[in-house]
Amino acid sequence: MATHARQGPCGDLASRLFATRKLTRDLAAPLSDADATVQPFPDASPAKWHLAHTSWFFETFVLRDHAPGYRPFDDRYAFLFNSYYEAEGPRHARPRRGMLSRPSLDEIRSYRAHVDETLERTLPSLSPAALELVELGINHEQQHQELFLTDILATFAENPLEPAYGELAPPACFAAEPLSWHAGREGIVEIGAADAGFAFDSERPRHRVFLSAHKIANRRVSNGEWRQFIDAGGYRTPTLWLSEGWDWVQREQVSAPLYWRDEATEFTLAGRREIDWAAPVSHVSFYEADAFARWAGARLPTEAEWEDFASSADPAIGNQLDGAGPVLPRPGGGMFGDVWEWTQSAFASYPGFAPAAGAVGEYNGKFMSGQFVLKGASCATPRGHSRASYRNFFPPHARWQFTGLRLARDA
Ligand SMILES: [Fe+2]
Repeated sequence: MATHARQGPCGDLASRLFATRKLTRDLAAPLSDADATVQPFPDASPAKWHLAHTSWFFETFVLRDHAPGYRPFDDRYAFLFNSYYEAEGPRHARPRRGMLSRPSLDEIRSYRAHVDETLERTLPSLSPAALELVELGINHEQQHQELFLTDILATFAENPLEPAYGELAPPACFAAEPLSWHAGREGIVEIGAADAGFAFDSERPRHRVFLSAHKIANRRVSNGEWRQFIDAGGYRTPTLWLSEGWDWVQREQVSAPLYWRDEATEFTLAGRREIDWAAPVSHVSFYEADAFARWAGARLPTEAEWEDFASSADPAIGNQLDGAGPVLPRPGGGMFGDVWEWTQSAFASYPGFAPAAGAVGEYNGKFMSGQFVLKGASCATPRGHSRASYRNFFPPHARWQFTGLRLARDA
């Protein structure tokens, strides 16, 4: 497989594993069983399902396959909590995950504890190949921690009572940094993950690409700039939009970022609050980001332009997830944190791409159709999870993630 367990003592892997498992538990602490059962729309999952599915991943790919004599917590759970692995057999239909009032949240917590205890006991005797799957399981669970928060935001956004998942400090009155343009490198550069260290299979192999002369913006597009786009009739001007995007705007009657509620407020994990005009715009689709860039006389960066520009930035710096609680994009910030940034690049395989061996080969490769790459990290991305070569991906209409944009242009 194309993933690599982090070099170093098993103790380091164990501490990261159990810290990750604890963070997921902590994220669920404020929720009632009912909160954790709702599925706001088919692409989002109930919180309870995330808690169980991440445990199923370890139970299946690590414990079942590598811990002799392991007995599943409940034989019926594989059907309920397999997400999309055809090699693992039939599964409950994704759009119906919200129908699972049973098992209860407490039963799912017991399931998690069972898996954790077995992992703790088994870890010292696991083979290097199994430890690579533990590393993959940690990274998988971190991805679900982000989805957990965005799916809870989507769940609470459906409730007219506008419940808050937690509290956040009020916006500080920063002004957005002035927009400036940096010259990107021109010519042949390398992108993709090097051989050492963990990366998903889709980030490899590292390879050469050609960059034409271009410039890239020093910061993300702000809420204030998005307001100007709206006021200028951006959502009503077909010439700014890709054909599919224009169909989508009209069909869905889109006229603002997903959680904007009126002229001055938005719904957040801390309930409804005033829009921070200096903060990066978030919860916009690829279609919207592309139309905005055209309106601004610019374009979205390619994945290679973005990655080369970010290669000297520290991916651990920025507004990212450090502990359980609500999150929100904030003004300032660099290449990582606040919002994932749409690129104009399709999520496709790199030259020489080889999916990971076994069932986990279904992790990324089979989604290389109809999706665009997002780079960076968001305020809901666990710190330490992302890197310049990271390839997040979503279909062009998706906007319930913390998704924004940075402009680029030809030089
Ligand atoms: Fe998953």
